[in-house]
Amino acid sequence: MRVLIAGAAGMLGQDVVGAAERRGHETFGLTRRELDVTDPADIDGAIADLRPEAVIDCAAWSDVDGAEDDERGATAINDTGAGLLAAAAARAGASILYPSTDYVFDGTKEGPYLEGDMPAPINAYGRSKLGGEVSVAAANPRHFIVRTSWLFGLGGGNFVETMLRIGAEQPEVLVVSDQLGCPTSTADLAEGIVELIATDAHGIHHMVGGGACSWFDFAVEIFDQAGTETRVMSATTEMMARPARRPANSVLGHTRADPILLQPWQQALRRYLADRELRG
Ligand SMILES: NC(=O)c1ccc[n+]([C@@H]2O[C@H](COP(=O)([O-])OP(=O)(O)OC[C@H]3O[C@@H](n4cnc5c(N)ncnc54)[C@H](OP(=O)(O)O)[C@@H]3O)[C@@H](O)[C@H]2O)c1
Repeated sequence: MRVLIAGAAGMLGQDVVGAAERRGHETFGLTRRELDVTDPADIDGAIADLRPEAVIDCAAWSDVDGAEDDERGATAINDTGAGLLAAAAARAGASILYPSTDYVFDGTKEGPYLEGDMPAPINAYGRSKLGGEVSVAAANPRHFIVRTSWLFGLGGGNFVETMLRIGAEQPEVLVVSDQLGCPTSTADLAEGIVELIATDAHGIHHMVGGGACSWFDFAVEIFDQAGTETRVMSATTEMMARPARRPANSVLGHTRADPILLQPWQQALRRYLADRELRG
């Protein structure tokens, strides 16, 4: 299959390019410089040149706190740009895959959020991503919306790297224990995404690492697996004021008969730390 990946230099984008290549797809990974999803001429040019059968939109405004100060900027990329790309893919007869987020939910549900649950974002980033889901679905009937969460990958800054950096600098770290979610490896997610585009299972998918935890639990596991003696101290969301509100519970579950399941997050973390070591 001919696969075009926008945002190919991002944390997820890099792994999706690798996964698509390994699967034998004719893979065209374009960075922001090569394809700006807010520029219709760029999009039309890339689609006309490369004639993809599937388009994967890894381009994103992913700065959750930054979106509070510039919701228009986040919306231009996550919503309007995603819609333009999805529409161009539709005109060319290609499917579109749009990664979305657990932050489309408000976090008040008890238990995991399912694909059919009503989104109600509580921050600007979540609103821009929900807008993107709607725009993509309206523009291209052959859409895959893949909600995921708490990503960590070798190609970008992430919570694991933040913890390891803090752990190297100080003996203890304060981490929130009242937000629950699913840590997800971009390496695993990329394999799942590439598997999904070869199917006709259009619509919304939840694709996250197996299991769930709090950021506190995640930090404890990181230091445990890394063999670092950093003490993790539990904090509340209220204590750790951030510009954007976060949902208290953003665990994602499935109702699909045949979901693509990723390995448990602890195993994925082990693999990440080993790969990181190899990279040096
Ligand atoms: N990170 C998470 O924890 C998380 C959680 C849930 C869902 N997601 C979703 O997963 C997807 C991938 O996230 P990520 O963490 O891989 O993000 P990322 O590392 O920030 O990558 C996003 C990429 O998009 C590029 N980009 C920004 N604006 C663009 C534009 N106008 N045109 C083309 N490319 C543009 C960025 O380039 P520059 O760096 O040059 O700006 C960057 O290379 C996103 O849809 C995100 O919403 C992420």
